[in-house]
Amino acid sequence: LNLQPAAVLDLDIDQITGILEETTNKGDSALEKALFSHADAVTQRFFGDAVYYRGIVEFSNVCVNDCGYCGIRKHMGGVKRYTIPIDEVVEVAKWAFENRMGTLMLQSGELPTPQRLAYLKELVARVHQETLELDMTQRGLDPKAPPPADAGELGLRVALSVGELPEEHYQELYDAGARRYLLRIESSNPELYAALHPDAMSWHRRVDCLNSLKKIGYMVGTGVMVGLPGQTLRDLAGDIRFFKEMNANMIGMGPYITEAGTPVADMWESMFGHVDKKAHMKAMFDLTTRMNSLARIVVGSANISATTALQAIEPNGREIALRRGCNVLMPILTPTKYREHYQLYEGKPCITDTAEECRKCLNARVSMIGKRLRQGAWGDPPNFLAPV
Ligand code: 5AD
Repeated sequence: LNLQPAAVLDLDIDQITGILEETTNKGDSALEKALFSHADAVTQRFFGDAVYYRGIVEFSNVCVNDCGYCGIRKHMGGVKRYTIPIDEVVEVAKWAFENRMGTLMLQSGELPTPQRLAYLKELVARVHQETLELDMTQRGLDPKAPPPADAGELGLRVALSVGELPEEHYQELYDAGARRYLLRIESSNPELYAALHPDAMSWHRRVDCLNSLKKIGYMVGTGVMVGLPGQTLRDLAGDIRFFKEMNANMIGMGPYITEAGTPVADMWESMFGHVDKKAHMKAMFDLTTRMNSLARIVVGSANISATTALQAIEPNGREIALRRGCNVLMPILTPTKYREHYQLYEGKPCITDTAEECRKCLNARVSMIGKRLRQGAWGDPPNFLAPV
């Protein structure tokens, strides 16, 4: 009888590449099944059957960058640019608190201006402070008094996903109350990164940003897209090693989905235009879930998100991913009227939904697969709290 706990395996790049090749090119379904079930066992070991919510508000689509794949890149025509007023985002934050989301993720395009920094500092401070005061009031405490030392988690954990900024700005936002930061590396291969981004964007600068965030004390998340034109299985194996080596606290991976009118969609057409697109996207969905499983097995106790893009390919995509190593869901809370303007890729789901619909829909999806929502909890990543 083997009573060893589900082991975290420090697989090297050759081993990971081998697993990806066997399952992707050689169709080894027994190996794939073993991969998924071990990933779920490792997830169970660290989280039981708990799934955490991170409500996300896409508060602005203004962006100075020109990422070749993205539907809100600077040079994308026909996009109505918006920035949601602070008061309106704070109202969403209060809704998120009342609906026990635990965490609020504030995401936008990149805009490294003093005005945006001031906006962000005020927004972060207000979300942090006002949800804390709500929580204190509900517990019968004086909301203006300092929180008691044994109060535990009060209000919402505030997370940011607003791109590359100077280290001082990251520090100021931390001081304002932000504790988590998501910055996808997009690909761990600098050459592939260079092929998908304009010359002005630098892979090394992005890595420096991740290091600054770690140094300041943020819980740091990163991630990649799967199925980018020119990406190899070895690149993907390198992505898993990248997460491991930086000890990513949060990981988010989604399939690359074409967005018409972008340069990378044209690259994709010239490479894959002749294949059955539906079948290809299904294969990329499966590959993304194998990547989620590998991330779980290799990195261990990071929070791994079942991303929205999975659902763009497979209606049950997010639930499937929750059984293949993921433990986090991000209900979209962006007010409905802005959603159509935050279309990073074709077929982005939930574009006409309200926050309440997204919450109810995801509640049902979680209960359907026999997992349990841990509502109202921050769910800080175990590998941040007690590094292994
Ligand atoms: N397909 C899938 N994901 C995309 N993203 C941007 N454009 C696309 C696309 N066409 C992802 C990037 C970015 C995140 C916010 O959205 O990885 O970091």
